[in-house]
Amino acid sequence: MRGCFISFEGNEGSGKSTQIQHLAFRLKQSGREVVQIREPGGTDLGEEIRTLLKYHPKGRSMIPMSELLLIGASRSQLVHEVIKPALNQGKIVLCDRFYDSTRVYQGYARNMDTVFVNETIDQAVDGVHPDMTILISIPLKMSMERRRTRHQEEQGSPEDRFEQLDETFFRHVHDGYERLVRDFPERVKRVDGTGSVNSTYEQIREVVTSLLDSIQK
Ligand code: TMP
Repeated sequence: MRGCFISFEGNEGSGKSTQIQHLAFRLKQSGREVVQIREPGGTDLGEEIRTLLKYHPKGRSMIPMSELLLIGASRSQLVHEVIKPALNQGKIVLCDRFYDSTRVYQGYARNMDTVFVNETIDQAVDGVHPDMTILISIPLKMSMERRRTRHQEEQGSPEDRFEQLDETFFRHVHDGYERLVRDFPERVKRVDGTGSVNSTYEQIREVVTSLLDSIQK
């Protein structure tokens, strides 16, 4: 059976991790082998880079170019160590964020040169592309509220370097994602994340089922 690569995208608080858990559980129940990963991260090296990018005090002075290249380093390691081997073994890979986050966060919101951003992406992925990208879309206001609630529930756990960015940045992220759907309508499927966990999952189940059916034909 051919492997399948699905990435998940969305603003902070869109519920990606919960949906990935849910989908992985269902796919495993149906007998598929599933690999769950996240970006940045997913390998020993990548997780170190993730800490540097998000939490390490020494990351505070990071300029956008360093951020882009570190994300690329994490990605190339992940593609080489995990994604390619898993796809070759016929597994389903579910990735919490992939190169569209780079297009949106570094390209669109940080306003970096699009041609260069795409070039670093191409070099890092070495020809590996998601079969489908699921964008869980919620309005900006809801994203901000969910983030606030999460921090209150986690009793003041520190915000990471990205979460500390201002509302204008996240408005750009939000707009960048909407643009992504327009630019890649075949690959990027937008689902509404404003309802219950189950209603969002239903939409995901539908698009994933049709993808898996089309791959198996
Ligand atoms: P998260 O796993 O909690 O979503 O945190 C990852 C953060 O890294 C998130 O704020 C988005 C950011 N990010 C980028 O800026 N560019 C990227 O290419 C990726 C994968 C993540």
